[in-house]
Amino acid sequence: MVWLAIIGLLTLCHSGIAHRTKFPDGFTFGVATAAHQIEGAWNISGKSENVWDRLTHSRPELIADGTNGDVATDSYHRYQEDVDALAYLGVDFYRLSLSWSRILPSGRNNYINPDGIRYYNALLDALAEKNIEPLVTLFHWDLPQSLQDLGGWANPKMIDFFRDYADFCFREFGDKIKSWITINEPYEICEDGYGDEKKAPAIDSHGVGNYLCSDTLLKAHAEVFHLYNETYREKQNGTIMISINSIWYEPSDPENTEQVTLAETANQFKFGWFAHPIFTEQGGYPAVMVENIARESMQEGLTKPRLQQFDDYWIQRIKGTSDFLGINHYTTFLVTGPGVDPTAKSPSWLKDTGAVTTMEVGEDSASEWLRVVPAGFGNLLRWCKSSYNDPPIYITENGFSDRGTLEDYGRIKYLNDYLTEILNVIYEDNVRVLGYALWTLVDNFEWRAGFSERFGVYYVDITQPDRPRTPKLSAEYYRALVATRELPQDERFFDQARL
Ligand code: NOJ
Repeated sequence: MVWLAIIGLLTLCHSGIAHRTKFPDGFTFGVATAAHQIEGAWNISGKSENVWDRLTHSRPELIADGTNGDVATDSYHRYQEDVDALAYLGVDFYRLSLSWSRILPSGRNNYINPDGIRYYNALLDALAEKNIEPLVTLFHWDLPQSLQDLGGWANPKMIDFFRDYADFCFREFGDKIKSWITINEPYEICEDGYGDEKKAPAIDSHGVGNYLCSDTLLKAHAEVFHLYNETYREKQNGTIMISINSIWYEPSDPENTEQVTLAETANQFKFGWFAHPIFTEQGGYPAVMVENIARESMQEGLTKPRLQQFDDYWIQRIKGTSDFLGINHYTTFLVTGPGVDPTAKSPSWLKDTGAVTTMEVGEDSASEWLRVVPAGFGNLLRWCKSSYNDPPIYITENGFSDRGTLEDYGRIKYLNDYLTEILNVIYEDNVRVLGYALWTLVDNFEWRAGFSERFGVYYVDITQPDRPRTPKLSAEYYRALVATRELPQDERFFDQARL
C-alpha cells in the first residue's frame, strides 16, 4: 500500500499534475547551433581561417580529444539533413549563426565570397520551404584570424569591422531573416578568450584583455543595433537582440548575509557585466564591478583602473540596444565566502569578484562546469525580471551534455525540469519568457571539449565520412513537446530507475 502511494506520488510529480504543464499560446520552440561547431568545410569554397581554426591547428593538445571543426558534422554539405531533422522535430525556429570568414574572408568588406552567400541562401531557402523561421546570430565566436591579428576584440577598430560585416548581412539576407542576434555570450568571448585560454583566441591577458574586450564588444553591439534600427528595421520589419550567458550564483548558505551579498556581486560580475549597460535605466557597468576593479587596480599600483566606466556618450548609446533579453542558461554555482578563489590568477576577473565559488551542487553531466540545478534557473529568471525592468525574454540556449547515448534519459530529465521552471516563472511570477531554443540539434564540436561532450538530440557518428545522424530519445521527447506545447507525460521518456 505504502509502496503504491509512493509510486503514485512520484508519478504525480513527474507527470506534472502538481505543476502547470502547458505553455502559453504564442510561446515558440526552436533549437540552436553555431556555424563553427557544425559546418566544417573550413578551408574550401573561399572560406578563410578563423580563430578556432588557428587554435585547433596550432595547439591541438588544448582540445580534449584532439578533434577540430575542419569537417565537424559537415553541415556545409549536409544542411538539408539538418533541415529535415528540424522539420521532424516540428520546431518553430532554428537558431543558427553566420560564419564571418565564410562571407567576408578578409574580415573586411573589400571582398565578398560568392560561395558563402550561396550557402546561406540555400540554407535559408530550405528552412523557408519547411516553414521554419531563422533566428540568426551574427557572431558566435569564430572571428576571422586576420582581425585577430590586429588585436581582435581588444582593438576598438573592431567596432567598425563588426558594423561593416553586419551591414552587409542585413542588406544581403535581411529579406529572409527577421530575427537577429548580434553577439553570442559576450562573457565567454571576453573572459575565456582574452582573459584566459579556455576559448580561442586564448590570449590569457587576465584582468586586462578581458576588460578591453568588453568595452569594444558592447560598443560594437550597440552600433550594430543602431544601424539595424535606423536603416533596416522599417524596411525589413525584424527584431534584434543580444544573447547573454549566465552561470547563476547562489549563496551556499542562504542564511549567511555575507554570502548573499557576494552571490549578488558574482551575478553582477557575470551577467550584469553585459546586461547592466544594455538593460538598466542607469546604464553602464554595474557599480560593484567598477568599485572592486578600481580598488584592486590601486592595490596593484596602477594609476588607472583596469576597467573604466563608459563615458556619458557611450552609456546613453549602449542603453536600450536590445529588443529582447536573450539568455543562454545551463547551470548554477554556489558562493561559499569572501576571498580569493584558489584558482584565480592575479589580476583577474575572478579575483576582482572577491568571491570564492564551488560547482559542488546538483547532479553532474559530461561537462565539468554543468551541474543540474533547475531551481537556479527559476531564480535567475525572477532576478532578471526585477533587475532589468521586466524585459521580454528569449531563452536562446539551454541543454545538457552526456557521452552520446541514444537513450538519453539524463537529457530528457534535465529538459523537463528546466522547462518546468520556465512554466513556473511564467505562471507564478509573470516573467515574460516568450520562447525557448534547445542546445543543440546534432552532437557537434564542443570547443575545447571537442566531441567528448555531446549536447545533441541527434547522435552523430564522427568516424563515418557521411556523418550519419540518429535521433536520440530526447528528439522524440522534444518532438512531442513541440507538437502539443505541453510537457510530455509518456512513461517511455522517463527512466523509472532514475525517478
Ligand atoms: C554556449 C555556447 O554558445 C555554445 O556554443 C556551446 O556549445 C554551449 N554553450 C554548450 O557549452
